[in-house]
Amino acid sequence: ASEPTEVVFSQLVCCAGGCVAGEEASNKPNFVLMMVDDLGIGDVGCYGNDTIRTPNIDRLASEGVKLTQHIAAAPLCTPSRSAFITGRYALRSGMGSTGRVQVVLFLAGSGGLPPSETTFAKRLQQQGYTTGLVGKWHLGVNCEYRGDHCHHPNQHGFSYFYGLPFTLFNDFCLSPVFFVCVLSFQVCVRLCGLFEVSLWLLVPLFFLCILATAVWYVPFILLPTWNCIIMRNQEVIEQPMTVETLPQRLLGEAQNFIKRNADHPFLLFFSLAHIHTPMFKTPAFAGKSRHGRYGDNLEEVDWIIGKITETVDSLGLASNTLMYFASDHGGHLEDSDLQTGQKGGWNGIYKGGKAMGGWEGGIRVPGIFRWPGRLAAGKVVDEPTSLMDLYPTLKYLAKDTQPDRQLDGYNLMPLLEGKAARSEHEFMFHYCGIYLNAVRWHPPGDSIFKVHFFTPNFSPPGAVGCYDTKVCLCHGEHVTHHTPPLVYDLFHDPSESRPLTPDTEPRFAEILEQTMTWSKILWRPWLQPCCGTFPFCGCKEDTAQL
Ligand SMILES: *[C@@H]1O[C@H](CO)[C@@H](O)[C@H](O)[C@H]1NC(C)=O
Repeated sequence: ASEPTEVVFSQLVCCAGGCVAGEEASNKPNFVLMMVDDLGIGDVGCYGNDTIRTPNIDRLASEGVKLTQHIAAAPLCTPSRSAFITGRYALRSGMGSTGRVQVVLFLAGSGGLPPSETTFAKRLQQQGYTTGLVGKWHLGVNCEYRGDHCHHPNQHGFSYFYGLPFTLFNDFCLSPVFFVCVLSFQVCVRLCGLFEVSLWLLVPLFFLCILATAVWYVPFILLPTWNCIIMRNQEVIEQPMTVETLPQRLLGEAQNFIKRNADHPFLLFFSLAHIHTPMFKTPAFAGKSRHGRYGDNLEEVDWIIGKITETVDSLGLASNTLMYFASDHGGHLEDSDLQTGQKGGWNGIYKGGKAMGGWEGGIRVPGIFRWPGRLAAGKVVDEPTSLMDLYPTLKYLAKDTQPDRQLDGYNLMPLLEGKAARSEHEFMFHYCGIYLNAVRWHPPGDSIFKVHFFTPNFSPPGAVGCYDTKVCLCHGEHVTHHTPPLVYDLFHDPSESRPLTPDTEPRFAEILEQTMTWSKILWRPWLQPCCGTFPFCGCKEDTAQL
């Protein structure tokens, strides 16, 4: 009964304090952005899953607009999320990686989203919005000393933060010990060979190596305690966090944020800790689904989404709130574990998954918008759209017309409202680390082509995924370069199973020419800038008038 009272009260306050301000503010819609971690597009009912029950997510789609080609800017948390909140490819903010580790790994690392970057939260804050982030951040905390909070959500436009500055993380405390020993032994043997040290030195050296490697491993071993923490704004309030109660607490915080701010424009980014491994064991959902613990967790996600929708609706905010549902990238195939029945996600008909460069399974994610009264119910958009489109869309709706940097996303409202039939994304770039891995081309018409310049090497051979390293790597001997590149027709072959050849595809050469081929570098006389009469070009600025 407390909820309605709160609403009535806030409306009274608005009228007492002057309705003009209230009306002006109410022109600006609220935003509730819900992002699930590692959720595959094949895990959701309205995207074709007939055994997982996701009635609440499906309801958002049937009351709103469903995107069938919604693309993450990167197949991994840190780069995908930074692109999402900045509206630009991760490369532009230095959040792409060159090497083995492609995400923020420790909370005590100095890396993260640069303080100079602009996020949609910062822009909305400038437009008078109250902004909040509840849940996972994973974009860094400190730069130079503990507590400078240079990468913290509060510095990036979220005036309220409750949640995980890091991410959920698998407990891998025991396996490194074995790894350390093997590695140490290899290093020792190498060193002995290098310095022609006799073998009797090998034993003390071996222990020295173990010690050195162990020191390097301390942060890994203490990872759960040091990284899996909960902060409220800039204060650490739980360390290590109690995982069992986390889903309820995150939901409660998200609901309270909406209730607290019901009377003026707000942005809530609700970044769920689900469906990243390890899986939650919430009793109410345990053993209820048809897909083991993974399925139970999915159905819990759906229940949470339902609760958030209910909160928005019961406060009477539905017609003035744009709700968005998505995943940060595709499911993590290598996280499947036959013994525990744990799964890292299901990407439906799409090839590959999380951390596999530009393969569709890692980047094509569910994308749903709901805004009753403004967006037609049940609409489906098949055009290519990007998670980076949220930034310009939010800016547009908040009437933010201030100058901005070059963005890689486009305002989605014309597509969502049916005022435009075509996406503005003629090209989309798919990165593996910082390396341009593939390009998607949407020429006039329905066609969608994708060109892969290189592909990550799968291991063991024959598998789809990099089971030896858990994530695919993007450099050196870990990838295969293709000359000519691999070309797929995504419109007819969304599973990327039949590469095109010049014989099967009449436009083969044309598709490849969309990139900087020699034919585009070739000198063309008719493009030559020239003063005077071509080819007799030449002139000199008249400096006498200066
Ligand atoms: C539904 O999701 C489950 C869990 O990820 C998966 O095992 C199953 O294959 C999916 N079903 C379909 C039809 O995609």
